[in-house]
Amino acid sequence: MKITVLGAAGGIGQALALLLKTQLPANSELSLYDIAPVTPGVAVDLSHIPTAVKVTGFSGEDAKPALQGADIVLISAGVARKPGMDRSDLFNINAGIVRNLIEQVAQVCPKACIGIITNPVNTTVAIAAEVLKKAGVYDKNKLFGITTLDIIRSNTFVAELKGKLPGDVEVPVIGGHSGVTILPLLSQIPGVSFTDAEIESLTKRIQNAGTEVVEAKAGGGSATLSMGQAAARFALSLLRGLQGEQGVVECAYVEGDGKYARFFAQPLVLGKNGIESRKEIGTLSAFEQKALDSMLDVLHKDIELGEKFIQG
Ligand code: NAI
Repeated sequence: MKITVLGAAGGIGQALALLLKTQLPANSELSLYDIAPVTPGVAVDLSHIPTAVKVTGFSGEDAKPALQGADIVLISAGVARKPGMDRSDLFNINAGIVRNLIEQVAQVCPKACIGIITNPVNTTVAIAAEVLKKAGVYDKNKLFGITTLDIIRSNTFVAELKGKLPGDVEVPVIGGHSGVTILPLLSQIPGVSFTDAEIESLTKRIQNAGTEVVEAKAGGGSATLSMGQAAARFALSLLRGLQGEQGVVECAYVEGDGKYARFFAQPLVLGKNGIESRKEIGTLSAFEQKALDSMLDVLHKDIELGEKFIQG
C-alpha cells in the first residue's frame, strides 16, 4: 500500500509522516509532497528511522510524481488559523489549493481514497467532490473529511472528567468540522452519564477545542501534533479496511444519504473499497437533537460555498 501526504512539510504533515513511518505495516510506501523545498529533506530524515517503510519526498509546483500509484492520499496543504480567525477565514486561500491538488489526484490516481484535513473541511470536501465529479472519477465511498481530531479530543476530555482511561472511551462525533457543526454524542457512551451542565460545558469545549490550541500557540499556528495523531489513526484504519479487515469503524465527514446535509460526519464501516457502509447515528438525546437541528443551516451554507466555487 502506498500513502501520499500533500502538505507534508507543514506542522501536521511532518507529525503525520513521522507517525506513519513508525506505524505503517512493513513494505508500505510513504510519499511526501509539499511546495516547500525542504520536503525531500524531510523524507531523508525519516528514512533513517529503522522501519520497513520506504519514504520518498518531492517539492515544487507539481504533485504528480508523488501521487503515482497512491492508494491513500492525505491532504493537509494550506494555511492554518491564527488567533481571532475561524475556519471559514481560510477559505480564500485553501479552496484554490485543494482544487489544484485534487485535479492532480484525479489525473494520476483517480481510484485512491482521499482524506482531506485542510480547513474549512465542511467546504473543502465539497470542493474536492465537485472537482472529481467534473473529471468523471468521483466515488463517494472514497472521499473523506478527516474529523478524527474531534473524536480523540472528546475521548480525552470525557476520560479526564470521569476518571477513565482515555483509551477506554470512544465518543461518536457527527455533523461537520467547525463550531456548532461539531456534535459529540455524549448520550451514546456506554457506562458514562453526565449532568445537564456537564453536557453543555463539555459540548462547548469540544466545539472550541481547536480555538483553545490556536490561542495557546499565540500566533504560532493551530493543532498540529494532536491532528497528526488523529490523521494517522484515521489513515491506519482506512488501510486496515482496504486490506480486508472486517468491522473497522471510524467517523468521518462524507457524502451520505442526504438526510441531514449532502455531506455529514457519521460512523462508517471501512472496507476494501473505502466506505463499506454508513451506520445510523442512533437515538439522540433532546439536547443533541436540538443541536443537530440548529447546525444544519450553517452546514448547508458551508457545503454550498464549496459547490459554487467549482460550479461557478
Ligand atoms: P502549516 O502551515 O504548518 O503547513 C501547511 C503546509 O502546506 C506548508 O508546509 C505549506 O508549504 C504547504 N502548502 C501550501 N500550499 C501548498 C500547495 N499548493 N501544495 C502543497 N503544499 C502546500 O499548517 P498546518 O498546521 O499543518 O495545517 C494545515 C491545514 O490543516 C490547515 O488548513 C489547518 O486549518 C488544517 N487543520 C485541520 C484540522 C482538522 O481537524 N481537519 C485540524 C488542524 C488543522
